[in-house]
Amino acid sequence: MLQAQQELLNWNNMQISVMEISHRSPEYIEMAAQAEQDLRDLMAIPDNYHVLFLQGGATMQFASVPLNLMGKCAKADYLNTGHWSEKAVAEGGKYGQVTDINALYSVDGKVDIRPLEQLQPQGRRLGEGCAYVHYTPNETIEGIEYSFIPEAQAPLVADMSSTILSRPIDVSQFGIIYAGAQKNIGPSGLTVVIVRDDLVNQVQPSAPSLLQYRAQIERDSMLNTPPTFGWYLAGLVFKWLKKQGGVEAFATLNQKKADVLYQCIDASDFYHNPVATSARSWMNIPFTLANPELDKRFLEKSREAGLLALKGHRAVGGMRASIYNAMPYEGVVALVEFMKEFEKNYG
Ligand SMILES: Cc1ncc(COP(=O)(O)O)c(C=O)c1O
Repeated sequence: MLQAQQELLNWNNMQISVMEISHRSPEYIEMAAQAEQDLRDLMAIPDNYHVLFLQGGATMQFASVPLNLMGKCAKADYLNTGHWSEKAVAEGGKYGQVTDINALYSVDGKVDIRPLEQLQPQGRRLGEGCAYVHYTPNETIEGIEYSFIPEAQAPLVADMSSTILSRPIDVSQFGIIYAGAQKNIGPSGLTVVIVRDDLVNQVQPSAPSLLQYRAQIERDSMLNTPPTFGWYLAGLVFKWLKKQGGVEAFATLNQKKADVLYQCIDASDFYHNPVATSARSWMNIPFTLANPELDKRFLEKSREAGLLALKGHRAVGGMRASIYNAMPYEGVVALVEFMKEFEKNYG
């Protein structure tokens, strides 16, 4: 952000802002291509995958995925782990026959993801007879995360909005990976889609041109004006991630951040996290207070202590610490210290 601020009015020594120049200018195109290359380097994206920089958020992909993949076979399996999976199921169902598979169960009062062998729909294997299998590796609101990649008989499509760049990911195991930018990539308004080359020829003919992966691939994501400023900022973030040691370094750091917060929650009867250890998110950690009447006080006091955005999503209530790549370890330690102090005063 500091770099963006410093060069806001004079980008690339052109005496003009990056948001003022044409996305068709050679300078912009060079920057855009470099951003793509940096993302390819960071994620070790194989050559048979295309990388798209689009608009519409992850929510647009809930429609784009079925429109692009259901042209030959209008069936798909959807693993459902909560809020965002459900939205994907609802949208997917508009374009084809979608099987909604409940991937959750309860163990000792905690919510967990079913083991692979229990993720099969009735009477067939996961993805059998389907165009694709869709899942959400990390449910951002509930803080539920897969510790494994589901094995399927059809290409896997993953909504990695709150997973991407948090750790190494074996891209070759997926047909499509998509992510809204606003967590680990950059500002909102940009969506990254990584799509395997053999999946771009089964589009439903009625799909809007802007949503067709093949059309976007042919025009380097510039079928119309792309989200130019978001793309530029994402490029800066990719360079920053590389400088910090890439996704391997962030995996270590993110795990350490999550560990220290879960330890604090588990060590007390005052705080509670509802997710089984094996399905706990590294990125989003929801927790409740033993006495919900203290929620408001907790949020007031934490804000006073400079700890922001801890209110849980309105769909689930309680608190949620979203500790994406940009959150330093020290930030999580500050939260843990605050939580201990709050418990001492109000517990
Ligand atoms: C996993 C997941 N999917 C989808 C979305 C929706 O993203 P967008 O607002 O970019 O459409 C979010 C947003 O928080 C998310 O976390």
